[in-house]
Amino acid sequence: MSRKKIEDLRSQRWFGATDLRSFGHRSRAMQMGYGREDFMGKPVVAIINTWSDLNTCHSHLRTRAEEVKRGVWQAGGFPVELPALSLSEQFVKPTTMLYRNLLALETEELLRSHPIDGAVLLGGCDKTTPATIMGGLSMDLPMIYLPAGPMMRGHFGGKILGSGSDVWKYWAEKEAGNITTAQWNDMEAGIARSAGTCMTMGTAATMMAIAESLGLCLPGASSIPAVDAAHPRMATACGRHIVEMIWQDLRPSTILDRKSFENALIVHNAVAGSTNAMIHLVAMAGRAGVKVTLQDFDDFAQKVPVIANIRPSGDWLMEDFHIAGGIRALMSRLKDFLHLDAKTVTGTLGEGLEGAEVYNDDVIRPLDKPIAASGGTAILYGNIAPDGCVIKPPAAEARLLTHTGPAIVFDTYDEMSAAINDEDLDVTPDHVMVLRNAGPIGGPGMPEWGMLPIPKKLLKQGVRDMVRISDARMSGTSYGACILHVSPEAHIGGPLAAIRNGDMITLDVPNRSINVALTDAQITERLKSWSPPPRDFPRGYNWLFARHVRQAHEGCDFDFLEGSKGIPEPEIH
Ligand code: FES
Ligand code: MG
Repeated sequence: MSRKKIEDLRSQRWFGATDLRSFGHRSRAMQMGYGREDFMGKPVVAIINTWSDLNTCHSHLRTRAEEVKRGVWQAGGFPVELPALSLSEQFVKPTTMLYRNLLALETEELLRSHPIDGAVLLGGCDKTTPATIMGGLSMDLPMIYLPAGPMMRGHFGGKILGSGSDVWKYWAEKEAGNITTAQWNDMEAGIARSAGTCMTMGTAATMMAIAESLGLCLPGASSIPAVDAAHPRMATACGRHIVEMIWQDLRPSTILDRKSFENALIVHNAVAGSTNAMIHLVAMAGRAGVKVTLQDFDDFAQKVPVIANIRPSGDWLMEDFHIAGGIRALMSRLKDFLHLDAKTVTGTLGEGLEGAEVYNDDVIRPLDKPIAASGGTAILYGNIAPDGCVIKPPAAEARLLTHTGPAIVFDTYDEMSAAINDEDLDVTPDHVMVLRNAGPIGGPGMPEWGMLPIPKKLLKQGVRDMVRISDARMSGTSYGACILHVSPEAHIGGPLAAIRNGDMITLDVPNRSINVALTDAQITERLKSWSPPPRDFPRGYNWLFARHVRQAHEGCDFDFLEGSKGIPEPEIH
């Protein structure tokens, strides 16, 4: 294998020249207290850090960055930490999805504009994984993704709590009058007990598992709990390994191909991963120049059993998953499905699985005792969603997977919120709730509104699931018969905009269809007299977003960010 020489390093353009500018670069490195021997002739490693005081899932990344640096120093590199937009799923409004592409753009340009030879990307809370990876793929320098890892289990009153999933569940019980305010307050104090991401198989855990199955992590990294002592050790190992990757010039473009993305699709199904992955993986593949479509998710779902018994589809949490052997153990059960020769940052996927074992057959099920034999994900088409929409069948009450009922339509979230609390609302358990104008542009940013709350009146009757349709997303920790990501969205005149109260809607998951009892001519006629609600962004990031974001089935990337080619290296003068 040919190795890079010092003079081949990208950073040498800044540090290795003898001109006036390079004098400035060296003298300013020395301004930080470093001597020439600290940085001269060494690969420069960027640590892209999505730490912030309001990203509660990433509190530990401040010290993890130092632990990555330790590894970089050990291996003879020069580490530099570059802070990046920290997308906190809890605090960023209206939704972090609005800013995923901004973080991707920032990551790419941070790497491009600085004297960087390779990068360790620190992410975990939902969008930070796809965003930093998308930017890294487009820049195509050697890189490793270091997952933040899940937080510890939650608990209250002797019960184990899972992020998100149990909040929705107990909120419904609170609204039905079954738990007290005091109990609810105990939950508030007990559900998030440490740094780390949501510890159910929500979007964060799903995307971290996907990053590893793509080959972008050190083996086993994605399931280590954030506060486990193994986590800083993994961070330091990333620091050491990235230096070697730089000498080998091991770039994402030489690692990722269609096989890597098929491995991600397989793992996504085996863990009953978040529906959000269907947007992010398509966008990530777009950066790598690989075609992944919505239909791929359904095709792989038909073949791959769900074997991770983790909430919201199963019983356990990420900490249990880690103790049961974690992601390597899970993948070792999937050897007949995976491309074991797919490349990774350390070699091949198969090599990374050597010695992996499952230690608990209930947490990581054998293939012949799965949570669901197939069908973790279904992609539906029909006259409501010509470009597709998604449902997670195992998370829905089975009786609803084939269902016909009258539509009850909401144009805004506020309208829906007011209605569901109205105990006189004309709604039955058979109704199909529709929320529109919540897509990529209409939301904007496809907020996680897709698990429409069950109307209070029905909650009191014991109803816990109904068919719900929207052009929004839903949290990966949510559940129910929720049909999401309807494409094209209502705001750009998708047929969802034509539906009226009382129209009969038929969901047929076995046949992968979702239709309203209207003819094409009727839909066209109704849309003639329809106009989208105003989304008036006169300037700023929202203005850019609305003009360039692609639809959900295309991954919601910006049209001008797809791919990785064509941008020259910056001039240094
Ligand atoms: Fe950060 Fe869920 S809120 S991962
Ligand atoms: Mg989430």
